[in-house]
Amino acid sequence: MTQVNLRGRSIAITGASSGIGAATAIACARAGMHVAIMARRAGKLAEVAIRCREAGAATGSKVLVMEGDVADAAACKRLVDESVATFGMLYAVYANAGYGFEKSMVETSEQELRRIFEVNFFGTMNLVRPAVEYFMSRPFEGDARRRPRGHVLICSSCLAKMTLPRYGAYSATKAAQSHIGRAMRHELEPKGIAVSTVNPISTSSEFFDTVRQNTGVANLAMHTPGFWFQTPEKVARCTVDCLVRPEPEVWTGVRGRITRLGTAVCTLLPFLPDLMFRKMARAR
Ligand SMILES: NC(=O)c1ccc[n+]([C@@H]2O[C@H](COP(=O)([O-])OP(=O)(O)OC[C@H]3O[C@@H](n4cnc5c(N)ncnc54)[C@H](OP(=O)(O)O)[C@@H]3O)[C@@H](O)[C@H]2O)c1
Repeated sequence: MTQVNLRGRSIAITGASSGIGAATAIACARAGMHVAIMARRAGKLAEVAIRCREAGAATGSKVLVMEGDVADAAACKRLVDESVATFGMLYAVYANAGYGFEKSMVETSEQELRRIFEVNFFGTMNLVRPAVEYFMSRPFEGDARRRPRGHVLICSSCLAKMTLPRYGAYSATKAAQSHIGRAMRHELEPKGIAVSTVNPISTSSEFFDTVRQNTGVANLAMHTPGFWFQTPEKVARCTVDCLVRPEPEVWTGVRGRITRLGTAVCTLLPFLPDLMFRKMARAR
């Protein structure tokens, strides 16, 4: 497969004020891409912008910073429009913004459920819609796999494939992202647009701090052995590889691939996760 030369291309990333989004923005700048970053916390975004400028100094990478909430469709459209205006073109978008939530389904209020779908799922579509509309206006040379005219990346999760007790709401948003990613991949490939989902395993970011803020607990983080934690930089490196060689799904590193295999085994033999999770649910 032909590799995409990232130098001089541009990417817009949501949820780039910390964790996976910030690390990916810095890695993309290092690879020579112009980077547009969006999140709600302006101060954190400004710090990430400095690190992107440092990482991309040698390649002439430019950085655009936009404060905004992905639940606001107009803000996501503005991110796409301003990226095109600033960089002259937009090659990729990464719908990465999202948050975790640890609570049993019956304790989860309708408002909490709607909010997590608003951010994790509808926030994804808020970015993807204007981006795909723009990609479709760009010239297409006829081979999406070799020479895409645009690339949509969605940060889903390994929990898209298999949920855990108290992660039903969160996993539902991640499974929804995974399904629309797969559907769009088939719909958009003939039109020259690549679509990929990123499926990180536990990652050391602010994710579990937010879980704790939202629900008062983060049992999953406390009970997950350190071996299963990866760094945001690892996820970022695998994501940049996927921009160079578009793949349908990104599973990060050896531990990511073991997890993928594990989810496949659990699908074939569902009594295995049932045994494990019954014990886990009782223990917590
Ligand atoms: N960490 C993990 O274990 C793990 C595993 C699998 C998948 N993921 C997925 O990875 C993605 C990134 O998470 P992370 O681990 O990097 O956690 P993180 O450090 O908490 O980053 C989340 C990012 O999303 C942004 N964000 C949250 N709500 C937003 C909203 N309404 N509008 C705009 N931006 C918003 C946050 O910025 P502001 O607060 O400044 O808006 C922050 O930049 C998420 O989609 C998450 O589901 C994480």
